[in-house]
Amino acid sequence: MGLTLIILASIILILILYSLFQRLRYKIPPGPKPWPVVGNLYDIKPVRFRCFYEWAQQYGPILSFRLGSKLNVVVSNAELAKQVLKEYDQNLADRHRSRSSAKFSKDGKDLIWADYGPHYVKVRKACTLELFTQKRLEALRPIREDEVTAMIDTLFRDCTNPENKGKPLKVRRYIGAVSFNNITRLTFGKRFINSKGELDPLGKEFKAILSGGRTNKMGFLSEHLPWLRWILMPFDKEKIETAKHNARLDRFTREIMDEHTKAKLQGGAKNHFVDALLRIKEEYELSEDTIIGLLWDMVIAGMDTVSISVEWALAELIRNPRVQKKAQQELDRVIGNQRIMTEEDFSSLPYLQALAKESLRLHPPTPLMLPHKAKTHVKIGGYDIPKGTIVYVNVWGLGRDPNVYPNPEEFRPERFFEVDIDMKGQDFRLLPFGAGRRICPGTQLGINLVTSMLGHLLHHFDWNPPNGMKPEEINMKEDPGIVTYMSNPLQAIPVPRLPADLYKRVPADM
Ligand code: HEM
Repeated sequence: MGLTLIILASIILILILYSLFQRLRYKIPPGPKPWPVVGNLYDIKPVRFRCFYEWAQQYGPILSFRLGSKLNVVVSNAELAKQVLKEYDQNLADRHRSRSSAKFSKDGKDLIWADYGPHYVKVRKACTLELFTQKRLEALRPIREDEVTAMIDTLFRDCTNPENKGKPLKVRRYIGAVSFNNITRLTFGKRFINSKGELDPLGKEFKAILSGGRTNKMGFLSEHLPWLRWILMPFDKEKIETAKHNARLDRFTREIMDEHTKAKLQGGAKNHFVDALLRIKEEYELSEDTIIGLLWDMVIAGMDTVSISVEWALAELIRNPRVQKKAQQELDRVIGNQRIMTEEDFSSLPYLQALAKESLRLHPPTPLMLPHKAKTHVKIGGYDIPKGTIVYVNVWGLGRDPNVYPNPEEFRPERFFEVDIDMKGQDFRLLPFGAGRRICPGTQLGINLVTSMLGHLLHHFDWNPPNGMKPEEINMKEDPGIVTYMSNPLQAIPVPRLPADLYKRVPADM
């Protein structure tokens, strides 16, 4: 016991001395004063991007804080975002892996959690040249159109069901199904949900794997206070749980990979991500761990982001009936009421595109992107960023900069006709997909899905708040987390506005 206390006290002393040494040696960005040992762990409010936004008003557009002894830096304006994601992109393109992401990614054998280095460059190249090509995006379009029209079909049936008369629907259920089915079909070539909306046994296993492996409270604390790990070691079941989770995930994915390999041998090769990765396995020297990691990266990064974006956008459209009406007028003018919208119509629907952009400005689903890490020491905004620092760009804050966006809280798609701002990583004033080396590889796919879902939802239905609720009373509170869901899932009443024969699913057998 005595020895443990001495070791503990020595570790704490070393950490305090190290932190003092760093403060004297470097010009660290300003920020809230850290407490000994825990740093600012208890100063940070759960909705982090809001907390960093408030801190930026006090400390300026580059600020720092500590989690335990770990230095974190947040930048909150376009000029500094450009320094992080363009000028010093290569130095700041490593990933900070939490203990759980390190374990689940087998220490960065995938793409999302890999550091920037030869492995990352190889895997990223495979993604760019083989998975996210324009050709594949186009080839997989029938899946997207199938899923979006399936959503419209179910929504129509539910909202015209006499039992549901006057009742609001929980929109997330419908939007979430599109994202879910789209991503499982795109990656694994599987639709785990039958036409009645029920999960098949494989789908149940998939969902169980997805929801498994969350970090518990003990895990969260010991993440930032490494010494706590030693003390809690006898009670910490995380290691065993992670091993079980990884084995389950590997087994599930291998079975699907085997199925696709067999189908290929029998001449039935398909065009899904799993097929593409198995085909290029040798050429790119991809290990099985990397292929499995990549497939799950797509699921994790591509599923929630899309449905979150659409839910926020629809909430804004209900709160702003003027914008909803204007978008519908455009759809009626371009498409009319004799056919449904397709992705080919996008270029004739500039207002629809602008409203998707406006929503991603106000509600980027990953408001702090994913944490980057400094590979080497750099200077940003005149401050030192020592090697190993975790670096965030507050994308949510960038979208609210009043110097760039007058009346930033106003939902007004027209602003993008007045100033031309790109959202695909070329313009640092708007970065829902990030920029630079680590920009989201699914950018175009994400934009297509979000725009398509919004276009169909608006063309087919008028959207109203629940009876008795004023549009402006919709609760826009955010949930904490790396991805930002609406805290109160959107409830709304859709009213069909097209002839009944246009609400049928357009199935695609692929
Ligand atoms: C509206 C939809 C989406 C948004 C807003 C979004 C946004 C982002 C952002 C901000 C990042 C982090 C960039 C960085 O750390 O610098 C990211 C990374 C990533 N996204 Fe997306 N994303 C979306 C959809 C998708 C889709 C549909 C896929 C794939 C099917 C996808 C796959 C990925 C992957 C694999 C990464 C990791 C890239 C890397 O670390 O190099 N995303 N995304």
